[in-house]
Amino acid sequence: MTEIAGKGSIRPPDFGLPSDRGGKDLGVFLPMANGGWILSTNSPIRDASYNYNCKIAVLAEEIGLDFIMSMAKWRGYGGTTQQWRYALDSQMLMAALAAVTKRVKVLTTVHTLLQNPAVTAKMITTLDLISNGRAGLNIVTGAYKGEFEQMHAWQNAVSHDERYDLAEEWITIIKRLWTEEAVTFDGKYFTMDDCQSDPKPAKQPFLVCAGTSERGMRFTADQVDAMFCGGKDDVELAKISTGMKVMARESGRSIKTYTMMNLVIGETDAAAQAQADYFREGFDFEACKGMMRAYGFLDAEIGKENSFVQNARSSFMSAKIIGSADTVAKRLIELIDRCELDGIMLIFPEYLQSMPIFAREIMPQIRTRFPERKEFAHAV
Ligand SMILES: Cc1cc2nc3c(=O)[nH]c(=O)nc-3n(C[C@H](O)[C@H](O)[C@H](O)COP(=O)(O)O)c2cc1C
Repeated sequence: MTEIAGKGSIRPPDFGLPSDRGGKDLGVFLPMANGGWILSTNSPIRDASYNYNCKIAVLAEEIGLDFIMSMAKWRGYGGTTQQWRYALDSQMLMAALAAVTKRVKVLTTVHTLLQNPAVTAKMITTLDLISNGRAGLNIVTGAYKGEFEQMHAWQNAVSHDERYDLAEEWITIIKRLWTEEAVTFDGKYFTMDDCQSDPKPAKQPFLVCAGTSERGMRFTADQVDAMFCGGKDDVELAKISTGMKVMARESGRSIKTYTMMNLVIGETDAAAQAQADYFREGFDFEACKGMMRAYGFLDAEIGKENSFVQNARSSFMSAKIIGSADTVAKRLIELIDRCELDGIMLIFPEYLQSMPIFAREIMPQIRTRFPERKEFAHAV
């Protein structure tokens, strides 16, 4: 019988102590959908093949990153680029990548509205067995209506906050299936009758969530090991990161906070900026409108020159750092420090070209500034 971490024992070590400033988790967000995170006809990632992602996963391991993660995406944004229309399945992809790696954590994404908890419990256990204890799960309650409506899986009766109530039941059942002989559960959203799930994972897989609403953050504080935070500037990001840690502490837990960042690295700051300008030149406004629709913008707002569009015109779909390797390293260190982050999930315009530069010129500076822990552990 394998050892199983009991309910409530999931705690990142070190947090809250001076040593928690040491060792940061660095990973990549795999580009498993066309276009990557650049909404432009000039994005270098025209397709997002298994082969490409496989090379990135192997390289991530070789250069000493801590994790690889993929999103779940069911519908693209249209436009000239047909951004994210061609997307691999997250769980199948991570199972394959678990088999070709030995050390990195492999985080897959599941939508709570789309997959029964008993099915998910077994799939993530299987990922854990394939990866020898490296499985992780990104829990998404479903933000983008169109993705679900196309398969009649959007439950209009269930509001945004109630989707997190549903997710609470969902993950409670999964945690119990991972640790108990059989589960009987009579909830508002799910019912289980003597439900069995064997084998068990060696320990509870690493759980993450990127819920940014108040209810999403409450769920995250209560249920998972790490949160993906964002913010319009360092002040807002720091507020969310530290606020999340306080919320988790109030629930008698501790939590890690990560953010994601697209790194445009050039020989010089000017060369990096020239790359970014090139992406901006190919900005796909039609796909941007599709993205806005997915984010829930009203038709009247779509197409207007509002702040969202002005921001999107850079063509970057996430926060970014543009500069020489030295500039990028300094900024990442500053961000981790100021915002009390425990890690960064990296995105690159073109991974195979940039990851070796990151490994050679940026990562050593981060590892030196925040010395490495022995392992990327989450359970004690
Ligand atoms: C790093 C990161 C990864 C995410 N992955 C997915 C994903 O794979 N699929 C998805 O539909 N939404 C994804 N999201 C969206 C979030 O799960 C969440 O729904 C969104 O931030 C809105 O927060 P809320 O649900 O609390 O309103 C991601 C967001 C971030 C920042």
